[in-house]
Amino acid sequence: MCGIVGVIGREDAALTALQALRRLEYRGYDSAGVATLDQGKLQRRRAPGKLSALAGLLESQPLPGAVAVGHTRWATHGAPTEANAHPHKAGRVAVVHNGIIENFRELRAELQAEGRKFESETDTEVVAHLCDSFISRGLSPSDAAAATLARIQGAFALCFLFEGEDDLMIAARRGSPLAIGYGEGAMYVGSDALALGPMTNHISYLEEGDWAVLRRRSAQVFDREGRAVERQIRVVAVESVLADKGEYRHFMAKEIHEQPGVLGYVLGRYLAPDRLGFLPLEGVDFSKITSVQLVACGTAAYAAEVASHWFNRLAGLPAHVEVASEFRYREPPLPAGGLALFVSQSGETADTLAALRYAKSQGQTILGVVNVPESTIARESDVVLPTLAGPEIGVASTKAFLCQLTVLLCLAAQAAKQRGRLDAAAEAELARALGELPRLISETLALEPQIAKIARDVAEARDVLYLGRGLMHPLAMEGALKLKEISYIHAEGYAAGELKHGPIALIDQQTPVVVLAPKDALFEKTVSNAQEVMARGGKLLLISEAEGLAEGGDGAWFKIAVPKAHPLLAPILYAAPVQLLAYHAALAKGADVDQPRNLAKSVTVE
Ligand code: G6P
Repeated sequence: MCGIVGVIGREDAALTALQALRRLEYRGYDSAGVATLDQGKLQRRRAPGKLSALAGLLESQPLPGAVAVGHTRWATHGAPTEANAHPHKAGRVAVVHNGIIENFRELRAELQAEGRKFESETDTEVVAHLCDSFISRGLSPSDAAAATLARIQGAFALCFLFEGEDDLMIAARRGSPLAIGYGEGAMYVGSDALALGPMTNHISYLEEGDWAVLRRRSAQVFDREGRAVERQIRVVAVESVLADKGEYRHFMAKEIHEQPGVLGYVLGRYLAPDRLGFLPLEGVDFSKITSVQLVACGTAAYAAEVASHWFNRLAGLPAHVEVASEFRYREPPLPAGGLALFVSQSGETADTLAALRYAKSQGQTILGVVNVPESTIARESDVVLPTLAGPEIGVASTKAFLCQLTVLLCLAAQAAKQRGRLDAAAEAELARALGELPRLISETLALEPQIAKIARDVAEARDVLYLGRGLMHPLAMEGALKLKEISYIHAEGYAAGELKHGPIALIDQQTPVVVLAPKDALFEKTVSNAQEVMARGGKLLLISEAEGLAEGGDGAWFKIAVPKAHPLLAPILYAAPVQLLAYHAALAKGADVDQPRNLAKSVTVE
């Protein structure tokens, strides 16, 4: 999703902006640009494609100046061309924008009627024109920006520069997050604090409706009513501003391998010190709740699907899951005093946030399972359970998924306790089994060479099916999502029992079918489905424990033996092999693993 940076007060502003943009690359983008102010003059460089294209341009045609705005664009209105790339400029105003200006058509028609000429197909360009038109009518730059903000509708973050104003930058937030960085004689703006890591760790976040007037040595923040307000400056933890690949080729690989470590960290927070029980969670009384509504998007929605099984089986609590983009428009009736649970890595996904606000308007208690602690979803939740995965940079979610699952399991265990469905012995058994998972995941990750070899064959396929039953059904969908996201191979995840109701028609001798079958109560049934695959010439890739492979693996194309875990915890463990399979298939295809085409890490548009 689009990324914004701003720099004021550094002689190398364009290159500093470029450095900050590199740290936003993970969000996904398809063009980029920078504008600077030098002796009052606005200049810009823009290029479709990766930041290396923009870097090349800045090398051959440098941009002097101590003030810069930069942007990575994820196309919404108009193709990823140079003309559509930000910054957009009209007269004396340059602007970078994340989000959508909903009334841009109406505004464009109005501005065109005034004789203004548009150069792009974007919604953003109206912002530059509108602001410039206010300046033409005699308003000061900050009054013009305020007047512009009052006219535009939608969810966005913006950063403006003004010709002739070398000590001024205006940033505004409505819907999309913006961080302000405080440096030595310099100020910064970033879509997140991560972007500003090398420049400063003194960060404040604009709140909804805020806008800020930034100069080299000051920042003045106003709320939506135009009142001057103070926003707390925090020293952001070093680990959240440091992000590099270390010894790994890709962030995704690094994040997959970080999983045993981050899982240990999460367990330290949610398990009792003796590891024989779950720490109590404040804020929700599950004995009074009749059902849970879970809402999320993408990978987080699959974590929510797994959790719904846990709520049912462990806590005897009805639980329903819906993707946020559907939930919000269904206008579902929600029980009085009900619990709505939102799962999000970024905490900024537009549909999830809108669904949260709907649930809030219906009087629900809002529980957020969120990875980015300062995010909007975290701030708007009544109770927040942090997933503690640390910054996740690879677009394909891996460690955040694992941590979401773990936190949700701890939550379901709490619900079970409060509802009298988990006695001390069962609690200790589950907690102990959870405590073993970091080690079991490490053992599974050690299978990487074998999985990489299998992935090279999977990479030859046109279509791949993933099957799982019960708790493994959502994981089959997550496995398929991982593969299609980063390798561009068509993949579908199905409930194993549904195979015969349609997808079985897809099976031929070229189709790998990945079957996720831990040796649990459903094993026999899942293996029967695997047999149906082989009977039709399909290539079975069976993932199970050694015992399961011995029982059901005859005739399989490939087998992957994972360690044995507590049956309720299998989805957490089986995430690792499906991630590695997708990663290595993508490598075999030469795909851009960390920044797959068309995808964004944080989807702040609807
Ligand atoms: C995007 C990302 C996915 C993520 C989904 C939900 O599609 O590419 O990896 O699962 O958004 O994001 P969230 O930040 O709300 O978990």
